Amino acid sequence: MSYQPEFWTTRRVLLGGGLAAIAASVLAPSVPFARTPPPVRLTAGPATARLIGPGEPETPVLAYNGRVPGPVLRGAQGATLEVVLENRLAEPTTLHWHGLRLPNGMDGVPYLTQAPVKPGESFTYKLPLKDAGTFWYHPHINSSEQIGRGLLGALIVDEPAPPAVDRDLLWVLDDWRLTKEGRIHESFGSPHDRFHNGRLGNVATVNGSGEGTFGVVSGERIRLRLVNAANARIFGLDFGALDPWLIALDANPVPPVKLGGAPLTLAPGQRADLILDISGATSAAADILDVHYSEQRYRLISLVAGKPDRPGLAGSAAPTALAANPISAPDLANAQTVAFSFDGGMHSNLTEAMLGDEKLPFRDIARRGMAWTINDRVHPPMTGHHTDQPLAQLERGRSYRFDLENRSDWEHPIHLHGHSFLVLGADGQPARNASFTDTVLLDAGQRRSIAFVADNPGDWMFHCHILEHQEAGMMGFVRVTA
Ligand code: C2O
Ligand code: CU
Repeated sequence: MSYQPEFWTTRRVLLGGGLAAIAASVLAPSVPFARTPPPVRLTAGPATARLIGPGEPETPVLAYNGRVPGPVLRGAQGATLEVVLENRLAEPTTLHWHGLRLPNGMDGVPYLTQAPVKPGESFTYKLPLKDAGTFWYHPHINSSEQIGRGLLGALIVDEPAPPAVDRDLLWVLDDWRLTKEGRIHESFGSPHDRFHNGRLGNVATVNGSGEGTFGVVSGERIRLRLVNAANARIFGLDFGALDPWLIALDANPVPPVKLGGAPLTLAPGQRADLILDISGATSAAADILDVHYSEQRYRLISLVAGKPDRPGLAGSAAPTALAANPISAPDLANAQTVAFSFDGGMHSNLTEAMLGDEKLPFRDIARRGMAWTINDRVHPPMTGHHTDQPLAQLERGRSYRFDLENRSDWEHPIHLHGHSFLVLGADGQPARNASFTDTVLLDAGQRRSIAFVADNPGDWMFHCHILEHQEAGMMGFVRVTA
């Protein structure tokens, strides 16, 4: 990698380097990047990570280049990034570039867009960076386990004119289920997780550390990029008095808006970019809570403010909107509507569903370890001889409106590959200030519509990003004709 953004983890950095070291990094010029960055090598293999904190046991994980999260990949909008994936795992893998609108062959979906990369093999991804923003990468095979054991990382695409900030920081949020000994709990694929909320963990981490503090400098303005890389946990981040501006969601600019005390909901797969001013906030006011699950609220992290050695940008003018990414707006008046229903899980009214060529009672489907349907069909993960048909055939260049209905009692963040879409309001028009996104969260029982131009030919996954739902039937694909 030619460049790494500042990637502070926690107090360890703060104590190790001292406040002066952090302050010194403030206002440091950002590292210039080449138009065509040198190729990056990502080696997937076993490693260990200190997830809980200093003095706690190390956890055996799977990692890219030995680190959890993996290296931050970074390039300029318009550049092409080349990444060589080397598989040193004991099983096949792939890399998917979540949120990037790529040529289909680079999308990293096993059997659908490429052969799985076998142990000992390599695969080179060429990624044209059309859109700026915060993205991430992860495998798309045996996802619950591969991502759940640590195979994930962030990808940042720099816009030509980034907002003025003192520091551009990244927090990769994750959620781990660890045993008392600090090992990853081996309960992957448990029927309970598949039928309920997915694999929720017991240790939340920021940049691979559950230590829970983060060093900031009074007076600085931070661009904070968040990535939810958890298997199943939906984060509802309460920033309290910090009251940051939201400037982008899922890589795409939104008109800057203060959160105003409302929690920022980030479902698995989602990203947000914030502008955070550290203006003399007391440490009590600088706790960031996760309040999404009402029965389980906790403090994710506390900001610990040090003294600056020069003035920062906090309190300067409100941020202006980032430049829009080059995404075509759907023609809603002439859009063709396609309906999708999502069902299954615990308490479902579903009595039967299609699995392959058979119509089966739902309890028989459950016995086979499957739990979810899209359009009354269970979609098991792809295999070498997959026969799953596309959920829909889309004509290239045409606008589509997808009417999504969640018939289940559970939340589902629904993600589309290869395209970015608008979420429509109840009136069928884009919600006010709507921005493009790649993942839409459906609450239990909720209907929402999305619209986009099907301008990227190929077969594109359309699935729930709760990985245990994805693997238990809730992952199909749509085909955009060439
Ligand atoms: Cu984050 Cu199908 O992907
Ligand atoms: Cu789901």
